[in-house]
Amino acid sequence: MRIVVTGGAGFIGSHVADAYLAAGHEVAIIDDLSSGRRENLPKAARFEECDIRSPEAARVVEQFRPDVLNHHAAQMNVRVSVDKPGFDADVNVLGFLNLLEAGRRAGTKTVIFSSSGGTVYGEPERIPSPETLPTHPICPYGVSKLSGEHYLYYYSRIFGFRYVALRYANIYGPRQDPHGEAGVVSIFCQRLLRGEECTIYGDGLQTRDYVFVGDVVRANVAALTSEFCGAVNIGTGRETNVVELFERINARVGGAGKVRHVEAKEGEVRRSSLDASLAGRVLGWAPRVPLDEGLGATVDFFRSRP
Ligand SMILES: NC(=O)c1ccc[n+]([C@@H]2O[C@H](COP(=O)([O-])OP(=O)(O)OC[C@H]3O[C@@H](n4cnc5c(N)ncnc54)[C@H](O)[C@@H]3O)[C@@H](O)[C@H]2O)c1
Repeated sequence: MRIVVTGGAGFIGSHVADAYLAAGHEVAIIDDLSSGRRENLPKAARFEECDIRSPEAARVVEQFRPDVLNHHAAQMNVRVSVDKPGFDADVNVLGFLNLLEAGRRAGTKTVIFSSSGGTVYGEPERIPSPETLPTHPICPYGVSKLSGEHYLYYYSRIFGFRYVALRYANIYGPRQDPHGEAGVVSIFCQRLLRGEECTIYGDGLQTRDYVFVGDVVRANVAALTSEFCGAVNIGTGRETNVVELFERINARVGGAGKVRHVEAKEGEVRRSSLDASLAGRVLGWAPRVPLDEGLGATVDFFRSRP
């Protein structure tokens, strides 16, 4: 297949592009390197450095004529989305529409979209959360991701696109940017390896559902050929709190790490975990990598990185 991967210089997108190339697909990557890194780019992929909102990005899609558009480029910082909701919508809604329109003109049939199971349900009514819960995001980033899903529904109904919106839980693993706000695992790994203190917001008993990036890659591979069209959770159904996460990583790094508690972040969801039984039925997907194994691989990555 011919596949465009946007955000392919970033954390998840680069792993997905690697897997697609390894499976024999032809891959073109669109990324503006705003948070992605050139060294993450697989050599065998064609690379176009441009903004998804630009006419150049639309031209790349039209000329490459992908069978599949795999969309991972995004403004993904919740804080930025609160401070600059217009910018968030510009990238995540208008940028995505630019690509969808180009895909429509190019005859693209399938779209795989990285949505956010941690934000589209807002303060979830049930844990682990199934896809049937109401979607009432409480941050602009969640709203823009959910709009992406609504546009996909429209494109599927009117233009016959098939789409899979993968509602990710908290993804972690090698290559995650330790400077962002989303990657608590990579932040703790890097700080502990450097002997620096880690910050925990509030009591640290807030929970998240951590999924190893290798498992997420398998969901992106399964989404290429499944017949499913719609939104599906990618999570483990397990909750881990921040204190426990710190202790697990600290134990791997030598156990001497120090932690500092600061005031809780306003508006942060207290608990989050996704029920992925639908992914089992429609994608044949289930998480495989236990948390300690994934944390080990992530610590090893940060240890080996200069
Ligand atoms: N990491 C998570 O836990 C998580 C959870 C839910 C959803 N997601 C979604 O998965 C996707 C990938 O996330 P990630 O963790 O790999 O982040 P990342 O920052 O490593 O990757 C995003 C990539 O998109 C590129 N990009 C950003 N804006 C762009 C633009 N306007 N034009 C072109 N390229 C642009 C960046 O340079 C980067 O390479 C995002 O859409 C994110 O919202 C991630």
